[in-house]
Amino acid sequence: MSHFQVLTIPDPRLRQVAAPVTKVDDEVRLLLDQMLEAMYEEDGGGLAAPQIGILKRIVVMDVEEDDSKNPIFMVNPKITWASENKIWKREACLSVPGVSAEILRSEEVEVEYIDYHNMPQTLKAGGWKGRCIQHELDHLEGKLYIDHLSPLKRQLILGKLKRVNRIRAHA
Ligand code: NI
Repeated sequence: MSHFQVLTIPDPRLRQVAAPVTKVDDEVRLLLDQMLEAMYEEDGGGLAAPQIGILKRIVVMDVEEDDSKNPIFMVNPKITWASENKIWKREACLSVPGVSAEILRSEEVEVEYIDYHNMPQTLKAGGWKGRCIQHELDHLEGKLYIDHLSPLKRQLILGKLKRVNRIRAHA
């Protein structure tokens, strides 16, 4: 069992801006390990600390399509460049369970962050990795992928979410 439960909407903690981390020390590394465990347990590709109620700028992700594990730990991540070219891809989120939607985002981004060993890193990524980076960094600003939808599409998704949850509650 993981130490953490992933929060789902409308939990207000998902809507708050996360605070920067001063240093990646043993305490932060323990949190990174536990977040990764929680993410794998939920079968997610990424998890941001606010999703477990910890309002810190910390993200873990693993976008490998097969079973090989290749975790990325990002502390205080910041997107320093985003391609003008944008593409649509279907996204889902552990905090918005049971639904998904096509979202328009930059095809490629460059991100700066502090890694597991407290070292600064720069990463340029496209594909699912680039997509996941943008999705997870939104969480640090209290933003969810559904915020990128038009008001009408967002209402449709939230309506579907309510139905899914009602079915779950009765299952
Ligand atoms: Ni998410």
